Amino acid sequence: MSILQAKDLIKTYGQGSNAFNATNGISLEVNKGEFVAIVGTSGSGKTTLLHMLGGLDRPTSGSVIIDGKDIFALKDDELTIFRRRKIGFIFQAYNLVPVLNVYENTVLPIELDGEKVDTSYVEDILSTLGLSEKKEMLPNKLSGGQQQRVAIARALATNPKVLLCDEATSALDPKTTNEILELIRDINERMGVTVVVITHSMSVVESICKHVAILDGGCVAETGLVSEIFSQPKTDAAKRLVFPEGHSEESVVVGREGERFIRVVFNGADITGTPLIARMAVEKGIEANISAASTRNIGKGVFGSMLLGITGGDEAIRTALEYLNVNGVVAEEVNVNA
Ligand SMILES: Nc1ncnc2c1ncn2[C@@H]1O[C@H](COP(=O)(O)OP(=O)(O)O)[C@@H](O)[C@H]1O
Ligand SMILES: [Mg+2]
Repeated sequence: MSILQAKDLIKTYGQGSNAFNATNGISLEVNKGEFVAIVGTSGSGKTTLLHMLGGLDRPTSGSVIIDGKDIFALKDDELTIFRRRKIGFIFQAYNLVPVLNVYENTVLPIELDGEKVDTSYVEDILSTLGLSEKKEMLPNKLSGGQQQRVAIARALATNPKVLLCDEATSALDPKTTNEILELIRDINERMGVTVVVITHSMSVVESICKHVAILDGGCVAETGLVSEIFSQPKTDAAKRLVFPEGHSEESVVVGREGERFIRVVFNGADITGTPLIARMAVEKGIEANISAASTRNIGKGVFGSMLLGITGGDEAIRTALEYLNVNGVVAEEVNVNA
């Protein structure tokens, strides 16, 4: 069931000849309970999109439906209330109120809403986030990671439908980042809150998120399951993100005379690449030179990619592609020296 739907979102900055679409017709659907990553290079429109998904910013055109409500049909004051009740935000800056302690910061959105605090719910969140012992402390007595946890507690206080995080952890060290994201995933699984995170860390996407949307130049280049997109990226934008090492290595690969390259992506749980390459040599007489190889853990699977150098022209390339593709790996010719 869809909890969040974006339809043809366009956000134009500037006017006349300076007009520029930061998002250029983005449509997206997120189902209840999903954990979705939005990735893309800097300037691809991630933050602009997230702000519209959360109703912080109105689009130039297009709509956002959250929990059945067309949020931009609401007046500003109605939207503020809707946002406070249904959407939790976690930003890179924690924005805690310095004179309020951990508990007071957490329940602030509930009190702003004039609602009664459900203490057992709030205690449960604080304990999940490891903050039960810190309730009386002021933010400046806490570490960065602890302050971020308070920001998460506050975002969850009103029991929102959707939690939106923009590079929530980039100010933290990698270990703390992982802890925080694991926590958000726990919360996603335990409380069923739908989560959308912007991240530039592909390892976060691989290990934590189930779905991904890849933005490129203000458009969605690809969207779907992480396991599918990360094992078989189709667009250049996705390939650049998924195979960054491949790209940099490929650019320095100096082929043998007449050598061309095939990229092979395989599911390591079913098959390991090397025997297949050896079999191809025996069965087809094609010797492939492994120029680069890597494996990665995505969700519960292991995926590998290899760059094969092959000589022998069109015929050898065609035969190799056919052999590899019928043997359960995804193979395509790539131009590495472009
Ligand atoms: N308030 C603004 N005014 C003008 N241009 C903006 C504004 N906010 C963002 N942009 C531009 O829109 C594009 C997308 O920005 P942003 O959504 O922040 O990208 P990302 O988060 O993917 O790095 C960038 O080219 C950026 O310079
Ligand atoms: Mg951004």
